[in-house]
Amino acid sequence: RLFDQLIPLPHGTTYNSYLVRGSEKTALLDTVDPETMDLLFAHLDRLGVKKLDYVISHHAEQDHSGTLPMVVERYGCQVVTNKKCKGMLLDLLDLKDEQIVEVEDGEKLSLGNKTLEFLLLPWVHWPETMGTWLAEDRILFSCDFFGSHLASTQLFADDKMMVYEPAKRYFAEIMMPFRTQIRKNLAKIEGLGIEMIAPSHGPVYREPAFIMDAYRDWVSDEVKNEVVLAYVSMHGSTERMAERLTDALMRRGINVHRFDIPVTDLGNLAVSLVDAATVIVGAPTVLTGPHPMAAYAAMLVGALRPKTKFAGIFGSYGWAGKMPEQLTQMLSPVRAELFEPVISKGHPKEEDLKRLDELADQILAKHRGIGIAG
Ligand code: FEO
Repeated sequence: RLFDQLIPLPHGTTYNSYLVRGSEKTALLDTVDPETMDLLFAHLDRLGVKKLDYVISHHAEQDHSGTLPMVVERYGCQVVTNKKCKGMLLDLLDLKDEQIVEVEDGEKLSLGNKTLEFLLLPWVHWPETMGTWLAEDRILFSCDFFGSHLASTQLFADDKMMVYEPAKRYFAEIMMPFRTQIRKNLAKIEGLGIEMIAPSHGPVYREPAFIMDAYRDWVSDEVKNEVVLAYVSMHGSTERMAERLTDALMRRGINVHRFDIPVTDLGNLAVSLVDAATVIVGAPTVLTGPHPMAAYAAMLVGALRPKTKFAGIFGSYGWAGKMPEQLTQMLSPVRAELFEPVISKGHPKEEDLKRLDELADQILAKHRGIGIAG
């Protein structure tokens, strides 16, 4: 239910481990989370696999690497990975140096009539990540890159409506901070002539243009005429302000994704950050700072570093506090242009609500300034 004890998984997930059988040798591409090790071994038994020559490790995170020591023990195979990943595997798992073979970017490994070519694809989403290109079948095994948290009985991502949102959510939650690196990785695989993308989570793409085009859109600098408005309210003051701002933005033709943080799946908040030009956080003051749930959401926005251009804060306080300053600090990694905070002492008065209308005017002017609002 919670991947990495952080990310809700409304559609479940899969750990994809791929078996490639050449005329001379056999390789397993990635393993699985140790929780599903028995399932992996049952599948390999059902396929009659008695011997593995290699197990390729694209990524050291344990949902793919965690079962490597058990696979090595069961099949006596060598682990094949890049230098950086090798170091991390030795840190994270009970493996020995001599069990791991290092490969370089572009190096090939022959299985007889099939050849694995290793491509370093850093920062999707760790520094050591790589993929494998199987030229004979024109398949790119991309590990987390292009993945989706989606468990389905359909092996292929032919139902694009079903796959798009989980893939975007996955991108938003772990890939979004690395947009610049992802652009380079997209360029690197551009000319391969890929016919199939086999990621390590979710279904396999046999129309790769679908997910590659989606990624090009998500990593671009283009933003939409949208505001993400995330807020918490304890006694109704901040909620009243959220309602007024939503209404004011709507009347100005701006699409608002509004989230009442305590009842929000933060994955949905992350998805809406992929495209929005502006993010606004609303919070009451608890003791001397922002409500902790607003702080959590603001820190998440800061950590995900969306391409958001503008940001703002509104909220309320009883007697004093540093709520706006602290939220501003938490949002600072986004490097967005900040609007003047709109803060109400106690419940919002008419002049406070008018300041929210003015904030909506400022947002519209900024959106017009970058050519996304009419
Ligand atoms: Fe699916 Fe980064 O592990």
